[in-house]
Amino acid sequence: MCGIFGYIGDKNASQVLVQGLLRLEYRGYDSSGIVVRNGSLQTFKEIGKISDLTSILPKMEGSIGISHTRWATHGGVTKENAHPHTSEDGKVAIVHNGILQNSNKLRKRLTRKGIKLSSETDSEVFCHFISIELQKGKTPMEALASVLRIVRGTWGLCVLFKDYDMILCARNGSPLIIGRSSDEMFISSDPHAIREHTSEMFALDDGQIARLDREGFEIMLPEGTPVESNPLELDEEWGVSDLGDYPHFMLKEIHEQSQSLKHCITGRLRHSSGSANLGGLEITPQALSTIPHVRLIGCGTALHAAQIGQLLIEKWARIPAVSHVASEFNMNDPVINSKAMHFAISQSGETADTLSAVKEIQRKGADVHGVINVVGSTIARQCGKGVYIHSGPEQSVASTKAFTNMVGALSLFALKLGRGRSLNLSEGKRITKGLKELPKKIETYLADQGPIAEAVDAIIGAKNVLFLGRGVSSPVASEGALKLMEIAYIPCLAYPAGEMKHGPIALIEEGSPVVVIAPNDGVQDRTLNAIHECKARGARIILIHEEGDSIAEIGDINISVPKTHPMLSPLITVIPTQLIAYHTALKLGNDVDRPRNLAKSVTVE
Ligand code: M6R
Repeated sequence: MCGIFGYIGDKNASQVLVQGLLRLEYRGYDSSGIVVRNGSLQTFKEIGKISDLTSILPKMEGSIGISHTRWATHGGVTKENAHPHTSEDGKVAIVHNGILQNSNKLRKRLTRKGIKLSSETDSEVFCHFISIELQKGKTPMEALASVLRIVRGTWGLCVLFKDYDMILCARNGSPLIIGRSSDEMFISSDPHAIREHTSEMFALDDGQIARLDREGFEIMLPEGTPVESNPLELDEEWGVSDLGDYPHFMLKEIHEQSQSLKHCITGRLRHSSGSANLGGLEITPQALSTIPHVRLIGCGTALHAAQIGQLLIEKWARIPAVSHVASEFNMNDPVINSKAMHFAISQSGETADTLSAVKEIQRKGADVHGVINVVGSTIARQCGKGVYIHSGPEQSVASTKAFTNMVGALSLFALKLGRGRSLNLSEGKRITKGLKELPKKIETYLADQGPIAEAVDAIIGAKNVLFLGRGVSSPVASEGALKLMEIAYIPCLAYPAGEMKHGPIALIEEGSPVVVIAPNDGVQDRTLNAIHECKARGARIILIHEEGDSIAEIGDINISVPKTHPMLSPLITVIPTQLIAYHTALKLGNDVDRPRNLAKSVTVE
């Protein structure tokens, strides 16, 4: 979604800004722009790719500037709506992430003052009001503070001034990270974009503003009280990620799953006690043993991981667990039990819907544990405790390795919880063994992926694709469908296999592709019924099964994966679905890593 990158130093700002924007590209955007202070504020914006912006950029002097990638919310994808926005007198330029709720009222106020707005955006109001305050004789900091008092909504905001050699920033609900190196300062909504310049980073908290200049930076509250900066510790795994020998990040990340799962579980598995150690949970064994229920919240892929976590917790710990769509969570005034455990699951740690559910739970008196990939992200900091999934940077919009590690981390938790309750030692050991062996099995599968190309041929040109699974394979079906839909733009439907006959079966006609996930997990024979019902109506079955299994030849296209512990099968059965999505999108000529309309971090509700 929208991204911000700003720079002050001794280099050519426009070049550093473009480099920063390229690092933000993976988040998804539809237009971009930069403004550099060079006597005047020189602004350039373009719709489309960053390369479209660079094609119109002249050679420019100036060593301070701010830039933006926009993902349209208020107002269409036009050059006028792209950021930066500049005040009428050309003295103030802003870039903004977030949404202003009272922008209509503020736009009307500006119009009444005779100011001509040049975009349809909510963001534009910032630059005009700041300029009005400066004209009253206020300092830049005072002007910004006054404007922050009249706006309502969320912002990660950066302001550049024609007459002052500084960048002012403000955060409320939309992340901003400051980077400092010996003689340069950076500001970005995403630590990834700064990482290649410096590892010394500081996160702004909600309600704070910051001033960056050539001497350094200071963070304060709007009324001027200085606050201590909040250093951001990024692990080594958050190095600059590049494609290496892969054509796309998605393929690279699919192939990284063996290694990244190893990172997630290594050091946490306790084979001798058949359990797991998760220090970040900050919960005593006694408190763990009295939890009445567990709630898991996420969106998209994270929701599917939550659904699997729910099943693992119920199976191994025998306590009720329920997963929730984050964007629905607050809609129904949920009853919160402060003794229950709540998990917020998110790759980016910035998803607004998930963040807002976290705040609702905390407001009602309970703790929330994060299951997060991006270290130091907003949700991770809001929760304050939890489990990092250690996938390393995930750049492809379609999430892959984060899914396996979310499931990995939740299996560790379910195991730990189970062992503190009714799960016996030998089953605990069977699970730890299963988890330990999985990275190798993933590697084995990726070395010999089976008839993915045939599956792609069966899917290309289909009106729709049905994905079926039962038990832990039902969320895998949902995840497979989401992935194919996201990047191949083919309508996909995922259903628990038994539910298929209650409606979706109407879609099946001669040749309809149906992807069935059916590991040998105790519910497979029931899935078989659904397969026969689909076949009887002419469907082409793409079957994902375990090697050596009796079900092996039942599909029209049979993809076999190594056998694993039945409850851990999602960690491997999901991989062929990722490969099917990737190769289908590729064959259709789609932009695999940056599918249309989507964003990597969805920072609006
Ligand atoms: O960063 P998060 O895990 O919170 O993101 C949640 C969803 O937006 C995300 O999983 C989305 O569905 C992906 N594009 C799926 O591939």
